[in-house]
Amino acid sequence: MLRYVKTAAKEALAPVLYKHPPSGLAPERLAIYLTALLERRELPGDVAEVGCNIGGTAAIAARMLRRVENRSRYICYDTFGGFVPEQFSADARTGTTENSRTMFSANSTRLVRKILDLHDCEHVELVAGDIATVAEGLLSPVYSVVLVDVDLSEPTYVALKRFWPRLAPGGAIFVDDCQEDGEWKAQVGYRRFCSEYSLPEEYHFGLGVLHRSL
Ligand SMILES: C[S@@+](CC[C@H](N)C(=O)[O-])C[C@H]1O[C@@H](n2cnc3c(N)ncnc32)[C@H](O)[C@@H]1O
Repeated sequence: MLRYVKTAAKEALAPVLYKHPPSGLAPERLAIYLTALLERRELPGDVAEVGCNIGGTAAIAARMLRRVENRSRYICYDTFGGFVPEQFSADARTGTTENSRTMFSANSTRLVRKILDLHDCEHVELVAGDIATVAEGLLSPVYSVVLVDVDLSEPTYVALKRFWPRLAPGGAIFVDDCQEDGEWKAQVGYRRFCSEYSLPEEYHFGLGVLHRSL
């Protein structure tokens, strides 16, 4: 109930609360992501942000791409209601604190749409669902850049399994929260994927990176 009240209040106050795009990425990681998008703007394929929360990073990145005349689709995948309970519980058993369980739950596609539209990002597409089970038809055949930012180990691992085969030659995937000592276990999912696919682990300021060679 509280979740719905909070979301409704955010929707009503969106023009004031979200006058500036509310990116959840640390500045140095945002810089890396934006640079990767600029460097790959000529590649074929769409851009995916898996875990967009209220769309702050999407608003900055998608607007930047339009300013440099890139016409790719920018697609945000999220539950728009926070963590999937079983996925959160699995990480809670290995140290993620219970307090974080509802962190992103006061959200809705309507709120994110409103925030994106406030920032001239009507073209950003929203796909609601658990990334582990979202229908194949809602994924693009090719992506140039993918940001995986779902915090937890299992959806990170499954997202990588689903997006890696769709990455264009020259494309890159970035996984947020890949630092050893953090609250989040995304790095566990990233490591598991790298090990299974015999890919090298590479880190830049807490982002795990995967490249597909040209
Ligand atoms: C850290 S936030 C994303 C921040 C955003 N990328 C930004 O830079 O502003 C994590 C998001 O992942 C979403 N999420 C968590 N598990 C998910 C899953 N299994 N499928 C889809 N989205 C998920 C949450 O709902 C939340 O909005």
